[in-house]
Amino acid sequence: MDLFEHEARELFEKHGVPVPRGRVAEDPAAARAAAAALGGPVVVKAQVKTGGRGKAGGVRVAHSADDAEQVADDILGMSIKGHTVHRVLVTEASEIAGEYYVSFLLDRAARTFLAMASTEGGMEIEEVAASRPDALVRVPVDPLAGVDAAAVAAPFPADVRAEVAAVVEKLWEVFVAEDCTLVEVNPLASTSTGIVALDGKITLDDNASFRRSSAYDDPLAGDPLERQARANGLNYVKLDGDIGVIGNGAGLVMSSLDVVAAAAREAGARGPANFLDIGGGASAGVMADGLTVILGDPRVRSVFVNVFGGITACDAVATGIVRSLEILGSRATKPLVVRLAGNNVTAGRRILAEAAHPLVTVVATMDDAAREAAKLAIAEG
Ligand SMILES: Nc1ncnc2c1ncn2[C@@H]1O[C@H](COP(=O)(O)OP(=O)(O)OP(=O)(O)O)[C@@H](O)[C@H]1O
Ligand SMILES: [Mg+2]
Repeated sequence: MDLFEHEARELFEKHGVPVPRGRVAEDPAAARAAAAALGGPVVVKAQVKTGGRGKAGGVRVAHSADDAEQVADDILGMSIKGHTVHRVLVTEASEIAGEYYVSFLLDRAARTFLAMASTEGGMEIEEVAASRPDALVRVPVDPLAGVDAAAVAAPFPADVRAEVAAVVEKLWEVFVAEDCTLVEVNPLASTSTGIVALDGKITLDDNASFRRSSAYDDPLAGDPLERQARANGLNYVKLDGDIGVIGNGAGLVMSSLDVVAAAAREAGARGPANFLDIGGGASAGVMADGLTVILGDPRVRSVFVNVFGGITACDAVATGIVRSLEILGSRATKPLVVRLAGNNVTAGRRILAEAAHPLVTVVATMDDAAREAAKLAIAEG
């Protein structure tokens, strides 16, 4: 999960990374009060979870409390790349002598962590990486040994190198202690009061969310169907195809996505609309919740239900499918292709045959079922 800048800077402060003094404001009067309390010129910054705020006019200097109120009034309510500004951060303005870049991230391709640094901060780092790759140092980080801060700070001017290295150590501490997949400071600025993180971006590792307080939960963030699924405890990821996919077990669902993608390509359908693992239980309630989420996606034209009976046998899952269709009633609108295999498969197929639900087609193999689902998606479209 991405954090707002003001949340990132709180974590920076907690771990001793220097940041300018600042306050969050939700209305112009509060911005005025913040500027008055800070004294002197301030920078008023839109708090949205997207980049390029400066270019969009969401980062502005104000020279007085009156000015800060006016600037906050301009920025609050702005839309930056589709994100409405509900809060601003008011920080003391720093005298900047140099703008640098430092980040830590999870490098999935290299299966390790990576530190990146550049003395050309402030601007978009993607541009630096593309046009002047030499200006960006990359230092792999062994998670057990920690960061070689001296190597990361090596390209910096001699007079700030030691101070940058100390900040790099603290940023790595943030990365580890707060379970991050990204910690980025752009710019890390050289100012009259030393090295200061003037902007911060943090992505928290969602796999570690169980050991965090829920203070960062942002009910307005993310895809609405994913939120609904999360609220129901479902393992759902929205994709952009037209064939819904449900299975029991993450591995089975992953391979279902592959066969659906292949069948869709052949038939001219768009592909899998989602990942949904309903897990071992596969009760009627869970099946109904899963189908509700999938059918809530207007792009879905057919659904592939791929079940391998294990401890929860096929007859129990088949009963779950039949009952869930009863629960859904008229909300079940798209054809379902069901493939059952494994424990008690004969009994499972008989239950589905006896129910003879008009939307359900039972197909024996996974490949044929995926092809049928793709064919139905085209016919529905
Ligand atoms: N406290 C500050 N004092 C002086 N200048 C600042 C301060 N904060 C930001 N700036 C200036 O504004 C520029 C843009 O700020 P910032 O990096 O926070 O936003 P941004 O990079 O445009 O936004 P994003 O990170 O969303 O792309 C900085 O590069 C810096 O020059
Ligand atoms: Mg920035």
